[in-house]
Amino acid sequence: MVSTVAAHLLFFLISVNLIPTTPIVEERPFQAADRVVAAALGKSRKRVFPVPHSEEPNPISEAYGYCNTPNRTEQAWEGHSPADYKLLSVQVMIRHGDRYPLYSIPKTKRPSIDCTLSTSRKPSHPLLNSFISHMGQGSRGHWESPLSSVPRLPNHSACEMGELTQTGVVQHLRNGQLLHHAYKRHNLLPSDWSPRQLWVETTGKSRTLQSGLAFLYGFIPDFDWTRLTVRHQWSTLFCGSACDCPARNRYLEEEQRRQYRFRVTDTELEKTYVDMARTLGVLTRQLRAANPIDSLLCHLCHDLSFPCVPMGDTGSGGCLTMAQFAVIRRQQLDDEVDRRRMGLYRKYAILAMYPYLNRTATKMERVAKASEAGRQPRAGGEEVFTLASAHDVTVAPLLSALGLEEARFPRFAARIVFELWKSPPVTQGQAKKKAGKGEKSKTKDGELFIRVLYNGEDVTFHTTFCRSHDRHTSQPLCPLKNFLSFVRKDMFSVVNATSYKEACYRRPG
Ligand SMILES: *[C@@H]1O[C@H](CO)[C@@H](O)[C@H](O)[C@H]1NC(C)=O
Ligand SMILES: *[C@@H]1O[C@H](CO)[C@@H](O)[C@H](O)[C@H]1NC(C)=O
Ligand SMILES: *[C@@H]1O[C@H](CO)[C@@H](O)[C@H](O)[C@H]1NC(C)=O
Ligand SMILES: *[C@@H]1O[C@H](CO)[C@@H](O)[C@H](O)[C@H]1NC(C)=O
Repeated sequence: MVSTVAAHLLFFLISVNLIPTTPIVEERPFQAADRVVAAALGKSRKRVFPVPHSEEPNPISEAYGYCNTPNRTEQAWEGHSPADYKLLSVQVMIRHGDRYPLYSIPKTKRPSIDCTLSTSRKPSHPLLNSFISHMGQGSRGHWESPLSSVPRLPNHSACEMGELTQTGVVQHLRNGQLLHHAYKRHNLLPSDWSPRQLWVETTGKSRTLQSGLAFLYGFIPDFDWTRLTVRHQWSTLFCGSACDCPARNRYLEEEQRRQYRFRVTDTELEKTYVDMARTLGVLTRQLRAANPIDSLLCHLCHDLSFPCVPMGDTGSGGCLTMAQFAVIRRQQLDDEVDRRRMGLYRKYAILAMYPYLNRTATKMERVAKASEAGRQPRAGGEEVFTLASAHDVTVAPLLSALGLEEARFPRFAARIVFELWKSPPVTQGQAKKKAGKGEKSKTKDGELFIRVLYNGEDVTFHTTFCRSHDRHTSQPLCPLKNFLSFVRKDMFSVVNATSYKEACYRRPG
């Protein structure tokens, strides 16, 4: 029998599964160790960053923001640029949409949610029916193993654990449609797009695969399946063939120990777990291991009352309460503040997300090169649009690595967008009035810029690599080279190194 302390630690370690030695992609939803984040929201749910100096975050309204209920129009600043700038590429990472819990609360009935899709159920979407029938032709697409055996639609009248719900599908149909409109006038993808121009990758979970497909359908309705290849990422970090990094795992373990130490000092939280366990008639550690916040969030997001158990003879019985829920959420928000202060998670995040960022940077460079004046385009084109369908344990470290530590924890169907822009060519010579040189005018290729958006809001100037850029001077956008030098070298200063390899394999000191 392991001690309670050891049992908790063990639970953390096995349930995170960020250590990619086995191809498991399980997220530990909405628990402090996976969260970067959001000291909060203050009053405004639209803002990605909390308003400074506002009052204490309200854990309940913050939780509603996490649900991301698709019942209002959303602001989307994607596709905005100075006139005449050309959009060269867009790379998107999404978190899957609303899903059924991954854990159930002992002794209680699981929330009753129907995971089949139907336009007669809310929330619905004008594209829902055509999406369902289009998915029925999915066998025409190309699927990297093992994706071909993953269902392409949620379809259980009683949701399975972790299954995408109709809400989740609608969230991503909306995301895709939003970006469709944002980029329409930029002609990002030609109508006869080639297989290479559209790059789609997902983890092997049905909720990420289905979320990616819903997004894609909103973005390119009735897309040609035969041109689509869906690629598989076995690690939730999207680290491809560069997953091996011993130092990353050490930072994660240290971060988990910090999280554990921080949690046990919270007497209100401990008392809340004891009360909840008594209500249910289970051991406190049994309840804790069942990660009740995950299931309670699902109740909240679906407007279901919290679970109850009948009165028993040992003092058990009654319902779990909103007040208890608020205590757990409050502690999670406090944990985020402590996490930022200690900086361990940031170090983990830098190493965790380098492979993804490096690939993102490389794709941008390739597209930029292909756009150079006078260049013969490669047959089949470049990856002008890429979609990575991921988890909170992917999006949270990505935000942290970019220096967006104040950003709110990735809600359901969160999206991070990287845009690559090119300014118009400049004709030199006419401007210079010097005799002799001014006669022959020479055209200088435009310059390259990057924009980063989180949930539709432009956060470029909050990132580490562009925070100090003076956007009011000559350049209204952030130069791509800032991002490239950040990814290729500068980001490793956080872990006192100059390269991924050095940081990963240095002996612990
Ligand atoms: C959308 O749903 C949320 C959560 O159920 C609710 O708080 C909010 O008032 C709703 N907004 C609108 C515009 O209906
Ligand atoms: C969902 O499952 C039912 C029963 O297994 C089946 O008849 C139906 O065709 C499925 N629908 C879709 C869209 O896959
Ligand atoms: C980073 O990208 C470059 C290509 O630009 C590649 O040569 C290198 O192997 C990548 N490094 C890692 C660790 O993935
Ligand atoms: C950073 O790395 C350098 C060289 O590897 C080492 O000399 C120095 O002590 C390190 N600094 C810290 C704070 O770890």
